[in-house]
Amino acid sequence: MPTPIVSFETLSRVFEGAEASLAESAKGATAEDARLLERFEFGLQLNLEAFERERRRLEAEGRPADGVMWSADDRGLSLLQSTIAAYGADIGALEQDQVKYDELDPRWAKFLAVRFGELFRDDAPWRTRRLDDLVTTIADEGTVVLLSDWGSGRYGAEAMRPTIEGLAGPVPAIVHLGDVYYAGTPSEMQENFWAPWPRRADALDRALNANHEMYSGGRAYFDYVDKFRQGHSYFALQNRHLTLIGLDTAYTDHDLHGNQLEWLEHVIRQAGERKVILLSHHQLFNRTGRVPGALRMRLASMLAARRIDAWFWGHQHHCTLYQPDAEWGLRARCIGHGGFPYWRVDAGDAGSETHGHGSVWHRFEGRAGRPGGITLGDDNPALGSKRQRYGATGFCTLTFDGPKIVERYLRPAGEVLIERELFD
Ligand SMILES: [Fe+2]
Ligand SMILES: [Fe+2]
Repeated sequence: MPTPIVSFETLSRVFEGAEASLAESAKGATAEDARLLERFEFGLQLNLEAFERERRRLEAEGRPADGVMWSADDRGLSLLQSTIAAYGADIGALEQDQVKYDELDPRWAKFLAVRFGELFRDDAPWRTRRLDDLVTTIADEGTVVLLSDWGSGRYGAEAMRPTIEGLAGPVPAIVHLGDVYYAGTPSEMQENFWAPWPRRADALDRALNANHEMYSGGRAYFDYVDKFRQGHSYFALQNRHLTLIGLDTAYTDHDLHGNQLEWLEHVIRQAGERKVILLSHHQLFNRTGRVPGALRMRLASMLAARRIDAWFWGHQHHCTLYQPDAEWGLRARCIGHGGFPYWRVDAGDAGSETHGHGSVWHRFEGRAGRPGGITLGDDNPALGSKRQRYGATGFCTLTFDGPKIVERYLRPAGEVLIERELFD
């Protein structure tokens, strides 16, 4: 079972009912419990501003439909959701798969106080890859699977496992580009990531770090770095024609922590004539053209030298294929539609086109800061009666056949929507 849903309404009630709830819990509390409750009250106060900011954002962009998962890009709020979900699961306070919150149950505040304190921890230690530890060799033929923002355990994410397990031909690697909701805690990594993870004896399993994993300090994420024997949160896979490089853009949010830039320069130098494809959680640019984070600055010289041929990222929850960038020659792809429910993209500024299985893709023009492209506009049947409001989930594959690389965009059950050569 995936982690229970903690709706926006539930979180609102935790904030709004905090006073009554804490008063109920304080009745007959021991001195130690009283200290815990006081600390939790302080924790709520610290996060109130973030909560109000999120409320305003949802008012502007639309509230999530009742009973549909949501999460904020915020450490405290995500940890609070993890805590509430854990309590709901522990005492069975669930209605279908949603946590049912009762602010007057005196057990609530104490449990939240203890668990919130446990989860709000220092970050896991950073791991530095040696500058002579560059690439892992993979086969020249096969299909690499890319999933992103997939750690919800729902909305189509869970349906990808049998599809990926059934893919024909060798699969040298399956890579998650990160985000396990709400905060990548040990139980969330187990239930939303490892339980639905595709098992293939021929594949290397790889996971990139992301903001939601870092909200719990990245500790459970690094356990999977060990379990997957990937050694570090950044890595490169290489065959005769291609170098696939996974970067950690989350340990320092939307930036490259540690020696990654120097390591990347070494990897790219030894790659020679091979095509270089980057994978990261965070994006180089947004659909809006705004440039977030420091990635563009860090990689400016490599982009200008046209040494990065393609870049797949997530974090934003839609599926977008950009045209080759005029200046850098870069093919950029956003594949963050792996499992998080997102508002359906219902129009572009330049018409639409239909691809495989009747899928509709909206075209948009290039503008300063980013090239034009197409975005998947289908609805999400996994949301039942709310399907029209939410966008389709799916994943991507790269098939190598000698120097030829074919990219495919698939629905969870395996229907191929777009299939074409990445470098045509
Ligand atoms: Fe995400
Ligand atoms: Fe993210």
